[in-house]
Amino acid sequence: MSGIVGYIGNSSAQPILLDCLTHLDYRGYDSAGVAISNLEKIELRKETGRIEDLDASLQIDPILEGHLGIGHTRWASHGAPTILNAHPITDEKERFIVVHNGIIENYLKLKSHLISQGYLFVTDTDTEVIPHLLVEYDTGDVEETVRKVLPMLKGSFALAIMSRNQPDTIIGISQENPLIVGFGNNEAFLSSDIAALLSYTKEIHPIKNGEIAVLRPGEVKIKTIAGDTIHPKKRIIEWHEDDFSLQDYDHYMLKEIMEQPAALKNTLKGRLTETGVQLPELDSFFEEHDVSQFRRIIIVANGTSYHSGLIGKKVMETMLDIPIETAVSSEFCCEHGPLNEKALILIISQSGETADTLSAWSEAKRYGCPTIAITNKRRGNLARKADYTICTNAGPELAVPATKAYTTQITVLLLLSILFTEKTQGPGLNRVPDMIKELHQLPEEVDKTLIMTQDAIDQFAQVTEDQQSLFLIGRGLDYVLALEGALKLQEVAYLHADAYAAGEMKHGTMALITPGVPVIALSTQKHLREKTINNIKELKARDAFVVGVTTIGDDEVSEIVDEVMYIPEAHPYLMPIIAAIPLQLLAYYAGTVRGYNVDRPRNLAKSLTVE
Ligand code: BG6
Repeated sequence: MSGIVGYIGNSSAQPILLDCLTHLDYRGYDSAGVAISNLEKIELRKETGRIEDLDASLQIDPILEGHLGIGHTRWASHGAPTILNAHPITDEKERFIVVHNGIIENYLKLKSHLISQGYLFVTDTDTEVIPHLLVEYDTGDVEETVRKVLPMLKGSFALAIMSRNQPDTIIGISQENPLIVGFGNNEAFLSSDIAALLSYTKEIHPIKNGEIAVLRPGEVKIKTIAGDTIHPKKRIIEWHEDDFSLQDYDHYMLKEIMEQPAALKNTLKGRLTETGVQLPELDSFFEEHDVSQFRRIIIVANGTSYHSGLIGKKVMETMLDIPIETAVSSEFCCEHGPLNEKALILIISQSGETADTLSAWSEAKRYGCPTIAITNKRRGNLARKADYTICTNAGPELAVPATKAYTTQITVLLLLSILFTEKTQGPGLNRVPDMIKELHQLPEEVDKTLIMTQDAIDQFAQVTEDQQSLFLIGRGLDYVLALEGALKLQEVAYLHADAYAAGEMKHGTMALITPGVPVIALSTQKHLREKTINNIKELKARDAFVVGVTTIGDDEVSEIVDEVMYIPEAHPYLMPIIAAIPLQLLAYYAGTVRGYNVDRPRNLAKSLTVE
């Protein structure tokens, strides 16, 4: 995933482009670049590294002053994060200047054709075919030329394009990949995401497939590929700047961890009655489908969203007594077994832009499967495509490591499990009253857990001190949570953390347990407690350093471990949310104490728009 920005107006473009890019660097931060026009000529600057590095370069060696330009921050997909592969990308004579997010799927075919025509390629990117095609088909008018070339490009991408022959124009394109036009006072913007525009304008138009945005001094035109002008229905952004500001936190990750009680309140708002669950966004789903008639229910996602899906699977299949499957999106796209309209696909994606997950949606639709999306972006790509969408309403999540996305996704999956159980009169019906009662308390319990964890984080964090690797173990829902805890430690503290089913350690991995090896043992599932305690004793018999995460009052666990992290007790199905808090804060602590940029971990991006 990368970030694109554009600006045209009465102010100096460079500071505005750089400021907008800093709000998009969660989309990728391997390199950054800008192209600025003073209406006579265009100059470019690109640097590897973060936006700050580009800014420093421009301070030391300024480029021309201008009121029009485009910018880009990159997550390297095709081609290493080098200056050559940094955007903007041009043809060899720099006649066309392009910034690109997404993937040109047919770039190799286009590239070999262009090479056979004598075009010289200098980058490893898929993007580079675009400026060369624009040269090949140049009509002398950049808008007309873009309209000719666009149908040749296959894939999902957003583009901003400038032409040296028309230095007063910026073209914006969106094909299955977000690009927004922002309307200011005698100025206009392009951005991959609302976040970058909030301090400049709240009046936007998301460019749709088949549209072209043409920005010129004093005018913005939205046109069809055929060239007909469209009058866009401008939309006012609902989010507030505060949603995106750090406030008094050091990092977005900590802010978003601490926001979870409020985020969970928003997730539950209007969906919990005294005795039941209501999800009006699924009214038409239940009119058209009988859940008990589905032969397969498959939960598909990536990363942390996949881990929340695993929690949902375990809860849903127990309550419905129907087997629920899970699949990593990238695997589902290539292997999924028999699919048809009797297979319900639940697709989870915080960003709604993850290419693997969008491809999984396409695959599901190829077989006529109904799809329900669980996403944090009510107007994201996934929400636009899915048959039904449940929004987590968690508010913007800008740290690359997902935290409130995880706990709010699980909460939606619990609500869905309850609704499905009621619709099918599943065996889990008798658990619904307790779940409802405790869901009402959930934000408060999470608040309590945040306080308890912060008070005990020093002891808890000993498990990661001076360590490069550690294990997490658990049974049932605790095992699935251990997978998420391990991912957090990998992403944020670059630790080699591995999660194992507690009962599985003795079948091989125990060979790695030597005195002092750190293990986090999750024991929050009462009905599995005895067996988990046996597994902890097996580890202690080999002098592992074990930190237990268990519910207040469970003295048996605290007696056999080296350190214990107590958390409030809740319904077993809600414990993965409660117990996620210490694991999130542990990762945050372990990453910051090592001096890492926890919001922007190396090699990662908030959502990957390439497969
Ligand atoms: C990864 C992110 O790129 O994508 C993870 O680093 C995230 O934090 C995963 O969980 C899935 O993203 P999404 O937006 O589809 O939930």
